[in-house]
Amino acid sequence: ATPAPFRPGLEGVPATQSSICDIDGQRGVLTYRGYPLDQLASSSSFLETAYLLIWGELPTTEQLQEFEQEVQMHRRVSFRIRDMMKCFPSGGHPMDALQSSAASLGLFYSRRALDNPEYIVSAVVRLIAKIPTMVAAFQLIRKGQDPIQPRDDLAYAANFLYMLTEREPDPLAARIFDACLILHAEHSLNASTFSARVTASTLTDPYAVVASAVGTLAGPLHGGANEDVLEMLGQIGSPDQVAPWLDRAIAGKQKIMGFGHREYKVKDPRAVILQTLAEQLFDQFGHDPMYDLARKLEEVAAERLGPKGIFPNVDFYSGLVYRKLGIPEDLFTPIFAIARTAGWLAHWKEQLGANRIYRPSQIYTGQPSRDWQPVGAR
Ligand code: CMC
Repeated sequence: ATPAPFRPGLEGVPATQSSICDIDGQRGVLTYRGYPLDQLASSSSFLETAYLLIWGELPTTEQLQEFEQEVQMHRRVSFRIRDMMKCFPSGGHPMDALQSSAASLGLFYSRRALDNPEYIVSAVVRLIAKIPTMVAAFQLIRKGQDPIQPRDDLAYAANFLYMLTEREPDPLAARIFDACLILHAEHSLNASTFSARVTASTLTDPYAVVASAVGTLAGPLHGGANEDVLEMLGQIGSPDQVAPWLDRAIAGKQKIMGFGHREYKVKDPRAVILQTLAEQLFDQFGHDPMYDLARKLEEVAAERLGPKGIFPNVDFYSGLVYRKLGIPEDLFTPIFAIARTAGWLAHWKEQLGANRIYRPSQIYTGQPSRDWQPVGAR
């Protein structure tokens, strides 16, 4: 058969069938299982949305209660994992700590039974429950403190902020953080989800699936961009510097962090919602001048990059929200991972339902067949 044309980055090549999430990149519309994201962000909770993504329908009251209780029961991590984290270099990146600790869960729950529905449920619950605990634990450990235990009376988002900051969060802050998790929970076949599906297709365990996805999310072209956005805004310094800075960046062929998307040719709908959330936070807890800088950059970039279909993506405003919540910059991507675990697990489950191992072909561009020569003869 004639080989399919080579498409760098698999642009436009369907690599799976999926009923989890749909993106309309021309109109800027995103749905999870058919539900518009803005409705979920304003009315659902992260755990309800995770349930929807993974099992395909919104839960009933009993199903939601049971899921929330199961997740709450499995939030703690073994002292062995906490001790392992104490041996990690405190200057290491929290995404590396998360990737290692997510993979280590496979050592504890090694009985792999992919055809047993109870095993699937227990892996889903454990991963959704323990990933935030591990992110918060590394944060305290690297500051030389002991991690604190989850609190049963706090809901998912509030408990994470509590474990991270050792303070019970303001209810509005917790609600906004929960909405951020909903916004980041799923986004079709992005790089980390593709990585999760490739790993899943070998029928390995779900902890390896999530660990490989965490490693993929960490890069600056993917989840790592949210951390780089604040650094970039810091470099620009003030709104009057935006236009000259952008001209220099474009002339130097530099990528503007938090801009551009393979799927969207308009502003990412998640960026629109995040902006509203940021403004709610500023109204309650005080304005952040970096937001004015970001809006100025969006405005100037719309003239210079808009005609090419390059607009703010999800990473552009998320950092400003997290910064207002007092979260350190290098935890922005681990937080993305906490949320995206729901999407990765939905894709893991979907992949298992119609599995065929991923094994694409390549176009060989190397040397023709030739004979090995002894070292002295080369
Ligand atoms: N700033 C300036 N120019 C850009 C940008 C940007 N952020 N993004 C794309 N372009 C230009 C690019 O230079 C190229 O121009 P030309 O055709 O003249 O050479 C054209 O647009 C196509 O870019 P591409 O890199 O081939 O597009 P892609 O679909 O392969 O990459 C992307 C998508 C998100 C990796 C890219 O837009 C990018 O690197 N953005 C900055 C990093 C970023 O914000 N990543 C977060 C992505 S969203 C959520 C997530 O995954 O975390």
